[in-house]
Amino acid sequence: MGSSWNCVNQLSKDKVTLMAEPPIPLEPRNDPFHHALSNTSRLVFKRLLHFPMLSSTNAYLKPLAAVGEPEGLIVLADEQTAGSGRLNRVWHSPQGGLYFSSLVRPMSIAASDTPLITLTTGIAVAKVLNTALGLDAKLKWPNDVLLDDRKVGGILVESSFIGSDIEYAVIGIGINANVTASDFPQSLRSSVTSLQEKRNQPIDLPRLFEYLVGQLEFWYLKLRDKGFKAIESHYRRLCTTLGKQVTIDLEEKQVTGLAKGLNADGSLIVQTPEGRQIIRCGDLVSSTTTKEKV
Ligand code: BTN
Repeated sequence: MGSSWNCVNQLSKDKVTLMAEPPIPLEPRNDPFHHALSNTSRLVFKRLLHFPMLSSTNAYLKPLAAVGEPEGLIVLADEQTAGSGRLNRVWHSPQGGLYFSSLVRPMSIAASDTPLITLTTGIAVAKVLNTALGLDAKLKWPNDVLLDDRKVGGILVESSFIGSDIEYAVIGIGINANVTASDFPQSLRSSVTSLQEKRNQPIDLPRLFEYLVGQLEFWYLKLRDKGFKAIESHYRRLCTTLGKQVTIDLEEKQVTGLAKGLNADGSLIVQTPEGRQIIRCGDLVSSTTTKEKV
C-alpha cells in the first residue's frame, strides 16, 4: 500500500524520509456513495473506499490487488491529481466528475481476452447513460464513451497475469459528470463534453454511481460466465466504429481501412487495401461519419 502514497522526497541517509500523508477514506455512515452501493445487487462489488482526493484510483487499487485484496473492492475519489488514461495519457479529473476503480479476479477469462473487460465495461456505462439519463451514448472502440462524438467517459483496465491467466484486473471508469468545458485544458475543450452540459442540469452522482456499479456487475458476470457471445451483440449495437473507414495509430505505423468486425478477444478487424489487420491496441485517430453494413 505504501507505494501508492507518493514519496515526495528521496532523502539522503542522514535525513528523515518524508512521505505524503496517506489518504484517509470517508466515514461510511454519512456517505451517500456507501448508501448507493448498498442499494445495488452486490454479488461482486461489496466494499467501498471513498476518498475526497487521490492521485489516481487505479494507482491506489493496483498495489492492494497485488498483495491479495479479494475481488469486489471499489475505490472512489471526488478528485484525482494524477488520473491516468489509456496510452499513458492524463485523465483530467476535477471535482464534479465520477472517478472509480473496481477490482475483479475473473478466473474464467484468459489473459489474451482481457480487452473484453474494457468492451464489457463500455456496455455498462453506455446503458446507464442511455437508460437512466435518456442520452444517446455510443462507444468508440475500444474504450471511449461518446455523446455526439465528444468524449464523456473513459475506461482504463489494468491487469496482472500469471501465465495465461488473469491474476487481477482493475477497471477504472471516469465520467465527465458535473463539470464544464472550462474545467479542461483549452486543447481538449472541443473534443469533450459532460453529462451536466447535455442534460442542462447537475447529475446526482451517488445515484449515477449506484446504477454504474449495478450495470458493471451485471455485464461483468455475463462476460465471466458466458463469454464474448453474451456481450457481442450489445457492444455492436453501441459501437460507432464498426462499418466506418478508420485510421488507427499503432506504435510504429498507421493503419487505414474499413473497421469490419470484432474478434472473440475484443480485437478489431480492419480491412486495408493490403489485407486484413488485427488491431489489439491502438489509438483510433479518425473515422468517417458514414457507416457501411458489416
Ligand atoms: C481513457 O479514456 O483513456 C481512460 C480514462 C480512465 C479514467 C479513469 S478515472 C478512474 C480511474 N483512475 C484513473 O487514474 N484512471 C481511471
